[in-house]
Amino acid sequence: MIHAQSTNKKGGLVTELPAWQALKEHVNEIEKTHLRDLLHDEARCMGLIKECEGIYGDFTRQRVTQKTLELLFELAEQSNLRGKINAMFNGEHINSTEDRAVLHIATRAHRNQKIFVDGKDVVPDVWEVLDKIKAFSDKVRNGEWLGVTGKPLKNVVAIGIGGSFLGPLFVHTALRTEPVAMRCSRDRSLRFLANVDPIDVARALDGLDPEETLVVVVSKTFTTAETMLNARTVRSWLTSRLGPESVAKHMVAVSTNLKLVKEFGIDPENAFGFWDWVGGRYSVCSAVGLLPLSLQYGFDLMQEFLAGANNIDEHFKNQPYQDNLPVLMGLTSLWNVSFLGHGAKAILPYCQALSKLAPHIQQVDMESNGKGVDINGVRLPFETGEIDFGEPGTNGQHSFYQLIHQGRVVPCEFIGIVRSQQSVYLKGEVVSNHDELMCNFFAQADALAYGKTPEQLRSDNVPDYLIPHRVFTGNRPSMSIMLPSCTAYTVGQLLAIYEHRIAVQGFIWNINSFDQWGVELGKVLASKVRTVMNSARTRDRKILPQDGFNYSTTRMINKYLEGKTQVLYPEGHDSFPIDMLRSGN
Ligand code: F6P
Repeated sequence: MIHAQSTNKKGGLVTELPAWQALKEHVNEIEKTHLRDLLHDEARCMGLIKECEGIYGDFTRQRVTQKTLELLFELAEQSNLRGKINAMFNGEHINSTEDRAVLHIATRAHRNQKIFVDGKDVVPDVWEVLDKIKAFSDKVRNGEWLGVTGKPLKNVVAIGIGGSFLGPLFVHTALRTEPVAMRCSRDRSLRFLANVDPIDVARALDGLDPEETLVVVVSKTFTTAETMLNARTVRSWLTSRLGPESVAKHMVAVSTNLKLVKEFGIDPENAFGFWDWVGGRYSVCSAVGLLPLSLQYGFDLMQEFLAGANNIDEHFKNQPYQDNLPVLMGLTSLWNVSFLGHGAKAILPYCQALSKLAPHIQQVDMESNGKGVDINGVRLPFETGEIDFGEPGTNGQHSFYQLIHQGRVVPCEFIGIVRSQQSVYLKGEVVSNHDELMCNFFAQADALAYGKTPEQLRSDNVPDYLIPHRVFTGNRPSMSIMLPSCTAYTVGQLLAIYEHRIAVQGFIWNINSFDQWGVELGKVLASKVRTVMNSARTRDRKILPQDGFNYSTTRMINKYLEGKTQVLYPEGHDSFPIDMLRSGN
């Protein structure tokens, strides 16, 4: 099935477009330059610094010239980038393999916006859920909604994995120390349970009093094996202490599958819906993130987060390529990956509050753009996607920066904050703690760009035998973003910038950035092992572990089974790591 909006203007592979060929030839020109020289060209630099929506974006340390940008814009044109962006905003079914629209932008639309899917304006539906989240979170926060024993519910455990976890965790981590958010969340706690590893259960529940705990089960499908086992585990933890009737007061759900929510035993009245046109990894602005985060910080603050994301949606939709932050980020990344051959990127926020940005973007980017065929199913003759990783500065400097300064070339994205959430300035210190952090932010980008020559080392009196070890070639690309502050609003902006830049890359590579068939394989294989495991742990042992597995897997499973023969089903009983679960009472 070939969708008109999904093909580039010529209909074939992106590599066949004239602009792609022109960019390939242009690589030779760029290879003759060094960032050291490019950074001295002030006219070039002026054209590569963008200030929009209160955000400062500096692309001067990318290995690009004005000509590179023009060629990239031409590639965008020939790839029908504008048409594809419009198709997304217009609710067309651009996720063709699942026959779905891609409308996470509707989850943060203003109440008076109109966004249509299959002829229906979805904004009223979005706001019906948001209003329900506001009403419910207000009730829980002001003590109108109490636990089954009459106690206020001050702790929330959000159970979910992948997109039903990483985005909300990123936003929660970003806001925890923001002064307004701190005031709004006094005496409340929000924890996440994602991994099916019982250690994660123990950690998530450790010290919590079930009488004061509300559990939010977050799963788009309500079938994800890990989430459902964790949900059953925590339900059992609640009911063993508070009785079966506690589920009604202590468990709520976020899902598109309200039928399964009901079957699980959660009253659909206590379920918060979303829609198949919100991809899991793009769902943080839907009830997936908004419910747990509103319970923690209050709906009003979370509305600012939505407003920040909406601001960038409008920017992305309306600004010309040369002033469009997600477009510029997407295009320069694509240049780094597809033309300069750098397959990874480092996301480096100089802000501890943004420490979960890289893990979140890892999923959004790698699940979206890690594809092997184009949108029409044609195998690609080039690799798409990037390997994303990152740590906040300066921690990362003491970890993997050696490799990015002297080893492999890894394009870096530095994110700095002008006004820190917290301030420390000690008498007698040269600079405040935040200024110290930001000194590193500025220095690292230049160090990567300039490097250090043997001549400089000699004039610094470095002994000859050390010179080769201390030479840095430089010319390593990076970009820098500065946000005025790290608030609910700017965190919303940052999230949307990253979501859209990923879409830009996918649109140009002409892949489907919104499906995730690659994840299915692992799920199928695990279910085969599960059957064997159950059989081996029961007395009848109808299926032998070696059935259907290769020698290596059979031997490894047997080794595992032998080491834990004490566990026998099915006469089991609920068992919790009691010692670790210190109840709050
Ligand atoms: O990892 C695969 C995936 O389908 C993600 O896309 C999704 O975010 C995650 O699983 C969780 O799915 P669900 O919200 O349906 O439990």
